[in-house]
Amino acid sequence: MTRTDLLPSAAARHLLLNMTPNGSLGRDGKKLFVVERGDGAYVVDADGRRHIDGLSGLYCCQLGYSYAPEFAEAAERQLRELCFSPLWSSSAHPTGIELAERLSRLAPVDVEHTFFSGGGAEAVETAWKIARKYHTLRGEPGRVKALSRRGAYHGLTLGALSFTDDPGLKEPYGPPAVETRFVSNTNRFGLAPEFADDATYTAHLLAELEAEILAEGPETIAMLIAEPVQNRGGCITPPDGYWPGLRALADRYGFLLVADEVITAFGRLGEWFGGDRYGARPDMVTVAKGITAGYAPMGATLVSTRITEVINQPGVVLNHGYTFAGHPLSAAIALRSLEIMERDRILESVRDLQDHLAKRMGSLTALPIVGDVRGAGFFYALELVGDLDDGGFSDTARAALVVDLIPRRLREAGLLARVYNRDAPLVQIAPPLISDRQLLDRIADIIADTLDEASRALPAH
Ligand SMILES: Cc1ncc(COP(=O)(O)O)c(C=O)c1O
Repeated sequence: MTRTDLLPSAAARHLLLNMTPNGSLGRDGKKLFVVERGDGAYVVDADGRRHIDGLSGLYCCQLGYSYAPEFAEAAERQLRELCFSPLWSSSAHPTGIELAERLSRLAPVDVEHTFFSGGGAEAVETAWKIARKYHTLRGEPGRVKALSRRGAYHGLTLGALSFTDDPGLKEPYGPPAVETRFVSNTNRFGLAPEFADDATYTAHLLAELEAEILAEGPETIAMLIAEPVQNRGGCITPPDGYWPGLRALADRYGFLLVADEVITAFGRLGEWFGGDRYGARPDMVTVAKGITAGYAPMGATLVSTRITEVINQPGVVLNHGYTFAGHPLSAAIALRSLEIMERDRILESVRDLQDHLAKRMGSLTALPIVGDVRGAGFFYALELVGDLDDGGFSDTARAALVVDLIPRRLREAGLLARVYNRDAPLVQIAPPLISDRQLLDRIADIIADTLDEASRALPAH
């Protein structure tokens, strides 16, 4: 037996996977999918099979897997110079400073400062603490609540979990750390089909939000957190005017607006920051994942001058931190990734190809099992409709199609995509931003063939 053959059973014995029924992997770990290598937009599993990485790892690998020599060179140079030094207690290192400066040039207007962390959830918790600090320093310590949106995912650490709307993930861990109210997301298809045009839909959503703010007491709200395109629930795009409307409400009622761009930043939507597509003018932006294109772990919270003018008063301590925040290695990798993205015109390529992908994905609505197609840039989801009169799935159709046929056929055809078995099942893609037209076509073809077969297998009703 080779080492590779032994990996699944070693994992079953020793590794606790995230968000996984670890006990169902079996003693020999047979159900485990072991990814051994990557090249270009592909990954290769332990059996030597190549798969299109239709999810960029987990929305991380903007540049795919073939830039290793350049990143290795950047990493080696950094490690030889300085392997570690914290951004802590009036101490900093050049690479962290350079990255913060670089980010300020890409970030939305008024965003000049960055607080680094190790990943998305830490970036979100940082935003919360900075919001609290800001309000307290301004004499409003009673702003203790957050607003988030239904179905949203903002991370799993105990603080970030407060803003995540999923009872199954939260309830086992007791009351949330932050009192949070959830308002509608912008999924018109599933939840508000009666609003045909953007103007009335936006007005409706903002009126609901304003009513919630007034019911809670505006003086109790510290921040609202939202993704430019909400991942959970399936690439939910905002209607026109929604983000400017959020800005107006934040200004009227004095809370801070946080754009969670852990997925949508660094080109996923064809912009450095996805919110730029929708006229978002957030007070803070949280990022992670694509900041290093997956070549190292990193998170960051970008903070506007309006906030730093308050929290950077002489003598005020920002009493929050992580040992590995802005680790020199991750910072060097992030800088190199930003350089590569500019040099190789990655955003331009997404912009050139996004209409083509939109057209290919949009055409799938012709299939009976596809109810809605949503997304932007290189980030798309298909919401599936089933055999029941209300569009839902019977237990048998769900088991046969959503749990079995669709994921199996996608995998057999060599595509890693996400299939969510939720109330409204979804198929989602977020391919590496280096994908060319031919690869996007291949992805769309595989999904079309799979969902065509699933449509034909859908029981008549
Ligand atoms: C929008 C959003 N925010 C926060 C997080 C948490 O990031 P991490 O897993 O790096 O803690 C995620 C993770 O998927 C996310 O999608």
